[in-house]
Amino acid sequence: MSNVHIPESPWFSYHDGTLACEEVSLESIAAEVDTPAFVYSGAAIDEAYRSIDEALSFTPHLVAYAVKANGNLSVLARLASQGCGADIVSVGEMQRALKAGFPPERIVYSGVGKRREEIVAAAQAGIRALHVENIQELDVVESVALELGRTLPIGLRVNPDVDAKTHPYIATGLQESKFGLAIPVAEAVLPRILKSPHLELEAVACHIGSQLSSPQPLREAIEILGGFAKRCVAKGARLRAIDVGGGWPMHYGQEVDPYPAAAAFGEAIRQGLEASGMLRPDIEIVTEPGRALVGDAGVLLTRVLYTKTQGTRRFVIVDAAMTELIRPALYGAYHAIMPITEPAPNAKLVRVDVVGPVCESGDFVAKDRPLPDIAPGELLAIRGAGAYGREMQSMYNARPLPPEVLVDGARSRVVRRRSGPEALWHGEILA
Ligand code: LLP
Repeated sequence: MSNVHIPESPWFSYHDGTLACEEVSLESIAAEVDTPAFVYSGAAIDEAYRSIDEALSFTPHLVAYAVKANGNLSVLARLASQGCGADIVSVGEMQRALKAGFPPERIVYSGVGKRREEIVAAAQAGIRALHVENIQELDVVESVALELGRTLPIGLRVNPDVDAKTHPYIATGLQESKFGLAIPVAEAVLPRILKSPHLELEAVACHIGSQLSSPQPLREAIEILGGFAKRCVAKGARLRAIDVGGGWPMHYGQEVDPYPAAAAFGEAIRQGLEASGMLRPDIEIVTEPGRALVGDAGVLLTRVLYTKTQGTRRFVIVDAAMTELIRPALYGAYHAIMPITEPAPNAKLVRVDVVGPVCESGDFVAKDRPLPDIAPGELLAIRGAGAYGREMQSMYNARPLPPEVLVDGARSRVVRRRSGPEALWHGEILA
């Protein structure tokens, strides 16, 4: 289809005129579980993990998957079984990660606002490190350690004040963002950490933002982070790791130029470490990719309910909504859309708004998108829905949570059922 931006994928392609996930036709999945439904390709997840793991093969490393991107237990278990670690931001994510089989020593805990109970739970579970990004939080961690009679491994997440040049809602590395400790503040607190019998500084960390279109800001941030790490070591820290955060990009389809491959981001990390003198065999590099591991492994399968022309607009009303995929409404995000029936190469394209049934004008999947003529009853696959789809879902308008299906070659398994009516009032008390 000319003029339509669809990222190439070996995992979602047309077989005999119909779109398949690996070897399973999406039509057959819709027939089995109905729509809307998330469908994930296991091979795509494996391959994405392999390419990031490979990009860091120049040094000891741990890929710690950002669970917030997609916490489905089967997705987590798949990554855990490959040796992947987990980056969590809540005890809920820790419970998911542990249940799915991530060993606690491969779990790092990030986040600007951890409750004391969460810090206690993480300490009791024996996770690898609590990443601290606030002096008051450091006080709480130290007092928890004292109470438990333990020395707790911590990381210091610093804010390198580097512009990630990404969407402002997913940029986190600038001084005015709420994330991380300013380096002078982290530096000032260092003697206290090194003296404390209850704290062990095991890592320094940063995360400058998501969807980095160029590896350059990452290189710059890592040189700054590496410089800080070096000063920590010089002052006596027995540093075990440098955590470079997430941000590995994925292709949604609207990119003007393709993003550099994982290898280029690996190389930027290597250069930043080398420039700071911290490319060392005794220091492990941790990275926290989220969307790059699972984003393009997933589609949101939806059925067209109706079409209508109103004023100058042509609407395609589908059964998926902002409740399943909020990214277009929240960030104006672009998601490629593929009809399940392969359009003829010369199919005439019509500009349409693809919208959901939710009672909000912001409930859209795509605006002014050129698509072949689509009739009610047809199925569409919304690409790039494997990350921040199910995790950001809601039950607004009393909509059930959609099922999730994991495909492996010619086999597909339902890994979450569609929620039933009881989930709509779960926990409520009818007074
Ligand atoms: N590490 C930390 C500390 C993070 O805060 C994040 C994402 C990641 C890693 C993973 O980032 P990724 O590799 O997936 O870009 N809901 C937004 C994304 C928010 C990301 C927040 N933090 C979206 O749908 O684009």
